[in-house]
Amino acid sequence: MTTTPTPVESGAAPSLIATLPGAAYTDPGVFAREQERIFESLWFCAVRSADLPAPGAFRTVTVGRESVLVTRNRKGGLRAFLNVCRHRGARLCTEESGEVRRTLQCPYHAWTYDLDGKLVAAPNLVKMPDVDRVAYGLRSVALREWLGYAWVCLAEEPPSFEETVMGAAVERLGDAASIERYRTGELALGRRVTYDVRANWKLIVENFMECYHCATIHPELTEILPEFAEGFAAQYYVGHGAEFAPEARGFTVDGSAGHGRLPSLAEEQDRRYYAITVKPTVFVNLVPDHVILHRMFPLAVDRTVVECDWLYAPETVAGGADLSKSVELFHRVNVQDFAACERTQPGMSSRVYRAGGVLVPSEHHIGAFHRWVTERLA
Ligand code: FES
Ligand code: FE
Repeated sequence: MTTTPTPVESGAAPSLIATLPGAAYTDPGVFAREQERIFESLWFCAVRSADLPAPGAFRTVTVGRESVLVTRNRKGGLRAFLNVCRHRGARLCTEESGEVRRTLQCPYHAWTYDLDGKLVAAPNLVKMPDVDRVAYGLRSVALREWLGYAWVCLAEEPPSFEETVMGAAVERLGDAASIERYRTGELALGRRVTYDVRANWKLIVENFMECYHCATIHPELTEILPEFAEGFAAQYYVGHGAEFAPEARGFTVDGSAGHGRLPSLAEEQDRRYYAITVKPTVFVNLVPDHVILHRMFPLAVDRTVVECDWLYAPETVAGGADLSKSVELFHRVNVQDFAACERTQPGMSSRVYRAGGVLVPSEHHIGAFHRWVTERLA
């Protein structure tokens, strides 16, 4: 795979193509449509499965305009429900996470549900024999597990998980085996950092998709991945991973050695960085000794919470390895990227950006993302 782009020949496509208009990043009406047609209609990466370690553990997450409750049931499986009591609509769990013994009880009138959502008790329920305990159970939400995360979908008929979620990795890497070799679902959490970013979620996606900014704002990253200084993101070419600098011993902030190599990687995956955007809200970064997974939670038109997990071989984490140099590299990249997004957000409401900005050739693939958003909202 080449690392230099095909030059634009005279008479070919123009160098500059249009972005979305500024209002796409500032209009609450657009954001409301995105919640309905994107976050509440597609598979949404909600929680890390291991964050619910045992039966009775639960987590609540915001998906679009809904609160979703994810539980681990008695059999050890994950289930997802709308976090709304079927009696009079009180929010069942108000905590972000917790653990119950066997049941979830509504704090209002004490309707009580088991971990599969079935209504199992309520004051005077025995005197209401006609009440169907399944029909009045919690409203369940589709859930799939992949890469060690629970992905939920609020749609009545969820789109194909294989096509819309796993397909993103195949499209990016060229085949399904390439991502499977990282065995992401078996890795352990080394570090988690949560970033509260004052920017529209699309600015964060667009930023992740391009590397035109790498030379300007990512000095540490371009030291390790010199080709990024040329401005072409790894996501520009199918199957291409950016090669480490010859002097870099690992994917660390100072180029010092990392933590070995995940055991089942192919030879050609060593000393390379791959990035995948799983629309709408997930970024997966693959390096030889760890996986960095970003989950976005768009909370408002100009506010997105990003949860970033650094995942390593279980023995690396259990052995108490010093992960600081390893984590610091992408933490800096995150801080640099999110600062750029926050710097861009105010410009979106400027009159000069009413019709939008432009994409240079190394960013033209972002146009496909814009078309995707536009089609979803049409
Ligand atoms: Fe939940 Fe009444 S609203 S028990
Ligand atoms: Fe960046």
